[in-house]
Amino acid sequence: MERDPFVYAHEREDDIVWMSQNTNQLETSPEILRAMKDALEEGKHNLYPHSDGILGLKEMVLEDLGLQDGFDALITNGGIEGTYTLTRAMLKAGDNVIASDPSFMPIHHQIELCGAEPKEIDIYKDPYKMKVEEVKETVDDDTEMILLIDPLNPLGSSYTKKEVKGISQIAEDNDLLLIHDVTYRDFDYDHTLASEFVPERTVFACSFSKNIGFAGMRLGALVMPDEYSDILHKYRTNVLSANVIAQVGAKKALETKEEWLPDMLEQSRKNQRIIKDAVEEIPDIHLPVFPSSTNMFVIDIEETGLDPQEVQKKLLYEHNVFVRGGNYLSKTAGDKFIRISFTVPEEGVRKFADKLPEVLEEMR
Ligand SMILES: Cc1ncc(COP(=O)(O)O)c(C=O)c1O
Repeated sequence: MERDPFVYAHEREDDIVWMSQNTNQLETSPEILRAMKDALEEGKHNLYPHSDGILGLKEMVLEDLGLQDGFDALITNGGIEGTYTLTRAMLKAGDNVIASDPSFMPIHHQIELCGAEPKEIDIYKDPYKMKVEEVKETVDDDTEMILLIDPLNPLGSSYTKKEVKGISQIAEDNDLLLIHDVTYRDFDYDHTLASEFVPERTVFACSFSKNIGFAGMRLGALVMPDEYSDILHKYRTNVLSANVIAQVGAKKALETKEEWLPDMLEQSRKNQRIIKDAVEEIPDIHLPVFPSSTNMFVIDIEETGLDPQEVQKKLLYEHNVFVRGGNYLSKTAGDKFIRISFTVPEEGVRKFADKLPEVLEEMR
């Protein structure tokens, strides 16, 4: 029987270079860790938190997005619970949602669970994101929402202010809701929030997994215009709130963002340059998007004729470097690329940069 790469990697957790998950293993600020340790020692974990999240967190999430009146937030078990709640509450069988391929496919599965259809625009071509015109042409009478993942997993592309404005206008003209998934917003060089243009139609899916590296803590938020607050509260899957220790850490992280974010970004950007330099030395492979506005990008290996899933296996089983073959992220282009996340310690990035040419050469 074939080995399961996830079981393999988790069995050797501490020896793996985890470039497969878009998680963030760069150092967590000691202040954030201290706040969480204190909370544990004080026994905060013994009580259910307030149903709407620990006091003050919701307001800080809104403030972080520059939002004031007119918005509410649900504190969720990761961004993924937020999009589940939203799709469940707002979609019905026969609806469709404009989305891209490649994309973060679990949200597409959530759409399908509602009997709705993700209408996927092929973006595995320049400019590697949805064009405003394409979005406009794809809308039909059954369209309910646009899923704007920005910056985008897996490609690392992001939308300019003009593009966000254009897509917002389509939402406005067609009476659609805009899901702005801003999971990777803090990595972007210049980010625009759709609420700038259509505040009454924008729902934000937010995550603490990537910026502060809380993937294992499971914490996120769904931010919605007040008008949708009641219905989304009704559909939330967990009225008992989310991990309280994570919430304490998130509050401290938002309070001290200016102290930890610049260093984290600097290391992340340095790491992506190390990989770019390595890729440039290898024949027949390239980076469709550089620089990435997230903590990941894809390496296109189509011209090598190699199977990305096989590259994933060889890097993992022979070198303990875990990357992701494209089929998890695309229904149509999954055989063309591998996805690499670089918010891992530099040592791991250098190991990958060292092993990639060797692995590809051996496989050719
Ligand atoms: C675009 C996007 N949205 C949401 C999520 C889910 O994040 P969370 O860990 O907060 O559930 C991910 C995770 O990789 C993602 O890439």
